[in-house]
Amino acid sequence: MSNTKVRKAIFPAAGFGTRFLPATKSIPKEMLALVDKPIIQYGVEEALAAGCDQIVIVTGRGKSAIEDYFDISYELECTLEKRGKTDLLALSRNVSNMVHLSYVRQKEAMGLGHAVLMARDLVGDEPFAVILPDDVIDARVPCLKQMVDIYNDVQSSIIATQVIEGPAISAYGVLAGSPDPGNPRLFAVSDLVEKPKPAEAPSKNAIIGRYILTPAIFDVLERTPLGTGGELQLTDGIKGLLATEKVYGYSFEGVRHDAGDKFGMLKATVEFALKRDDLGPQFRDYLKSLKL
Ligand code: G1P
Repeated sequence: MSNTKVRKAIFPAAGFGTRFLPATKSIPKEMLALVDKPIIQYGVEEALAAGCDQIVIVTGRGKSAIEDYFDISYELECTLEKRGKTDLLALSRNVSNMVHLSYVRQKEAMGLGHAVLMARDLVGDEPFAVILPDDVIDARVPCLKQMVDIYNDVQSSIIATQVIEGPAISAYGVLAGSPDPGNPRLFAVSDLVEKPKPAEAPSKNAIIGRYILTPAIFDVLERTPLGTGGELQLTDGIKGLLATEKVYGYSFEGVRHDAGDKFGMLKATVEFALKRDDLGPQFRDYLKSLKL
């Protein structure tokens, strides 16, 4: 590997967002607002907090709102400046000054493994992070930062996991493995299955959308056959990686919200709004006043 630091983060963002129709007919699901920021921005801020300063967004048709969002908005900024709205101007500029972004298109929705492969040329021969923007993680130490700290020690691929009880496990990739003697949150992965039937799940450890991967994953993905749903699954690629490299599961500290799902987004909205200094007290009073 030419570099051993995790500097780049890939954001797969080409999916249709069918769980959020009809809103996602014309708005990318990554741009849906959680309180007042698009959900993808939470992931970008997490990547920055973990030391990744190069962001690669894998987009597709109908996703240009994401590119516009992270650009400078001259018309808006000019108007705000004229009106003396310096606070709002700063908010808009903060977003465009945030980070170096590159975009690559995934022409067809052929799965998460395929989306990651699209970023191969931009990543090159170094370890990288993958953030699935639907998974918004609220944590004291940002989840990806927790993982980068462990990566710097183990120098192997790491996948974030969380225990999911009952049949809901079928909506996830699932990991099996054995606990690491040195760290109770870490385990050495021995098997992975994408979206197993409940009875066939090898454990309760679901894959959550944060990964640190070594560049060896690219060659493995190139030769991984299509899996669940006729798509190239990242989970299958990581299983292939096990033949030559160690892979760890990491049970992160923090709360994960599935913001790509209506109920998950509602819960995240309530929790994030309650934590805000500007909205929290007022919102708490409002919630208490509801006779539920
Ligand atoms: C993807 C992954 C899956 C993982 C999930 C986490 O599935 O393929 O392994 O558990 O993200 O959010 P998706 O939700 O895109 O179907």
